[in-house]
Amino acid sequence: MAKRKLKIIKLETVDSTNTYLKTLAEKGEREGCVVVARRQTSGRGRHGRSFFSPADTGLYMSVLLRPEASVKESLFITSMTAVATASAIETVSNKKCGIKWVNDIFVEGKKVAGILCEGSFDHDADKVNYVIVGIGVNLCQPKEDFPQELREIATSLGDEGIRDALLEQILNRLFALYDELPSHDFLTEYKERSVLLGERVKVLGNEGVEGVAIDIDEECRLILKADSGETVPLSSGEVSVRLTQ
Ligand code: BTN
Repeated sequence: MAKRKLKIIKLETVDSTNTYLKTLAEKGEREGCVVVARRQTSGRGRHGRSFFSPADTGLYMSVLLRPEASVKESLFITSMTAVATASAIETVSNKKCGIKWVNDIFVEGKKVAGILCEGSFDHDADKVNYVIVGIGVNLCQPKEDFPQELREIATSLGDEGIRDALLEQILNRLFALYDELPSHDFLTEYKERSVLLGERVKVLGNEGVEGVAIDIDEECRLILKADSGETVPLSSGEVSVRLTQ
């Protein structure tokens, strides 16, 4: 594989690295443009949530991809990014990383990083214009600095000094996996890192559905053995789940 030329834009403060890069993408910016900020004023998470992004305590980055893939195939970029991020964090911090389906990265039972992929698609032609891969990693927030509602569920790696090494590792792993995206080989590691398999989970937004997560299939759906006895495949775009006791 030829080494890819990346264009890295480093910012002090931005509303959201995803939003900033989306504007560049709309103007024709090429694949491989990366935006990194030391602080986000409107960091965004999945399901319309905000992503806590105070100054100098996290790695906030977005990567522009223009995959030559169908719309369906491009949806695997989220799980691919989770594997790249988990393995990069593990290498740089020496902390064991799990993945909570779909794309939360966990260390010692708490969320340390999140991923927000946003795409622009030509559905009629089944083509992808671009995908913005947004990654936020908590590097060194003390527990009491997290908003109250995050204190029990979020954590940080406890080291701000790994920022540059982590950025480099994430980009290396991400593009290595991206080159092999059609193989879906990363799904093996994705399953190995899953913190949900074998655990009881509750489906959010579909009250009453609870059971044990028994598998992640080749389409990256979480397979739930529901308490009703039914086997329910869950698609990431539709639901999220939380661990129960
Ligand atoms: C989530 O946990 O729901 C996803 C969080 C994604 C946060 C990152 S930080 C860099 C990029 N810019 C954003 O506004 N969001 C992503």
